[in-house]
Amino acid sequence: MSNSMAKVFLRNFSKYINADAGKTFLDVLRENGIPIRSDCGGIGECGKCKIIVEGGVTTPLTEAEKRFLSVDDIDKGVRLACQVKVVTGEYTVWIPFESLLQKYKSADIGFEREVVLKPAIRKFFALAKPASLEDVRADLERLLEGVSSYVDVDGVDTDLYIVKKIPDVLRGGDWSTTLVFWNNKLLDVEAGDTRKRLYGVAVDIGTSKIVLHLVDLSTGETVAVESMQNPQASFGADIISRITYAMKSSENLAKLQQLVVKAINILIERTTSRSGVDKRDVYEVVVAGNTAMHHLFLGINPSYLGLSPYVPAVRRGVYAYAKELGIEINERGVVYALPVVAGYVGSDALADAVAVGLDECKEPCMLIDIGTNSEIILNTGKEILACSTPAGPAFEGASISFGMRAVVGAIDQVFIYFDKSLGDYSVRYTVIGGSKPVGICGSALIDIVTNLYKLGIIDFRGRFREGVESKRLTVENGRKKFVIVWASETGINKDIAIDGRDINEFILAKAAVATGINVLLRHTNLSVENIEKIYIAGSFGTYINIENAMEVGLLPKTSQRKYTFVGNTAISGAKMALKSVEIRKRFEELAKKINYIELAAHPLFKQEFVQNLRLPSYIISKPV
Ligand code: FES
Repeated sequence: MSNSMAKVFLRNFSKYINADAGKTFLDVLRENGIPIRSDCGGIGECGKCKIIVEGGVTTPLTEAEKRFLSVDDIDKGVRLACQVKVVTGEYTVWIPFESLLQKYKSADIGFEREVVLKPAIRKFFALAKPASLEDVRADLERLLEGVSSYVDVDGVDTDLYIVKKIPDVLRGGDWSTTLVFWNNKLLDVEAGDTRKRLYGVAVDIGTSKIVLHLVDLSTGETVAVESMQNPQASFGADIISRITYAMKSSENLAKLQQLVVKAINILIERTTSRSGVDKRDVYEVVVAGNTAMHHLFLGINPSYLGLSPYVPAVRRGVYAYAKELGIEINERGVVYALPVVAGYVGSDALADAVAVGLDECKEPCMLIDIGTNSEIILNTGKEILACSTPAGPAFEGASISFGMRAVVGAIDQVFIYFDKSLGDYSVRYTVIGGSKPVGICGSALIDIVTNLYKLGIIDFRGRFREGVESKRLTVENGRKKFVIVWASETGINKDIAIDGRDINEFILAKAAVATGINVLLRHTNLSVENIEKIYIAGSFGTYINIENAMEVGLLPKTSQRKYTFVGNTAISGAKMALKSVEIRKRFEELAKKINYIELAAHPLFKQEFVQNLRLPSYIISKPV
């Protein structure tokens, strides 16, 4: 190690990195791909890049650090990564949870728990005794004899397909055969030893995105992951418009079903061909999705989901042959659609709950999956309740002037501050993919409204305040707006701005989510302080700035440490069910156990919703 080079041990990541003397820790961490927050871009204006530094020699506290760090922080060794510089020696750095960027978690994966491998699909190898004049037992009997130590031979369920196939397979494989069981059903027989070729797929059918994981069921390993937009989106961005379309005719329902089946087949094709797996070795598909997606995938008329009292056709899990649904895997393959809770709390929410172990919490815990339709599940420690709330498409950008999904070109983080040297407001932002910005995604919308409110540019109703002066406050077609990015910096040659109507859309969406949370809490006589853990699931939740989400009243204000971002746990839960029949039992039990609260019919609903149609008063909001 040269004199100008120091070593930093990152305790969160259990790894050493090299650091050049003279560089800020923020630069060093960024260079090494560590997802640290720097909302103001490293100019000492946000205080969000806190790290704890031990050992080594560091530069003295800067003025910015003195502003943002408490005496207690300083005692503990907390520094701002953008201010403190590497000098020499060996350092140990701990990056607190709140300083880590959550967006680095991919929306195609989620928090995963270890599962003891016990899939519904199992393969056993049998070396059968060849038939002879001395042994004239039927082929099926001699075949099952070979697996009698693993399965209850008398309880084996067979059918004509198998019986017709056995004689040729036995002789073709020189009496060595692999038997494929799906629970007690003899699903298939294959010549030779094919035990290592055993795959399944887990699918999360989201309203906007379909995610698929290919899993090796002989090892439990995830072999490949793929996702694509849900092609049904061209028939409506939200659930209601798709239900309305499907209600019109059986042809429309069939069209929506075919679209999702086709998409799943494409994802199966991509994952299997990329990993050199034969599709015939994929035997099972486990599917999670909201109740509307579940019904459309299975070809069940979703009309009654759209009509009060919004009941699903079935709550328990549904099994079907893959072939019946047009899913292209082994021709005897099986599909298991996980159970749902209610018309608007589907198997995706249930999968979230199972994946994080919400049903096993001893202390009160909550799960919030924010989306067009947001689901909230609360385990009080004694009972489990769930509700669903229509947040609408604002978080996905659909009803916002420059709104867009969190894809390349979207501004995903915004920090607005008063720049004294300019005498005006300045904006720092980050763009997904690092290109020129073309729009604003939901996470940026949260940041923008929070910042505008904190700076006193808008009032508690989200209206632009009179008397605030800024070049960024402009008027177009009689509507006031705040410019986030000037046209010259964008990829669309237009100012990217937010107006009063956008802010109103946002407030409606955040009010819907906050109402769901508060109604569940009040219904159970709990406050957020009683909740030990709050899991934020779903792809939208993956990208948000938790502090701003609390400040703006989207999420309950409490210690950040209670929050855990878990990513796409719908796919994780589906995968757990694919790997274990025991987990499937948990799904089935939990679906029955959850007490569904119909929010709109709840006596507290109206009062809560009205109260949440304003920005919280705990933010001191006054013009600069
Ligand atoms: S990045 Fe360090 S204060 Fe903003």
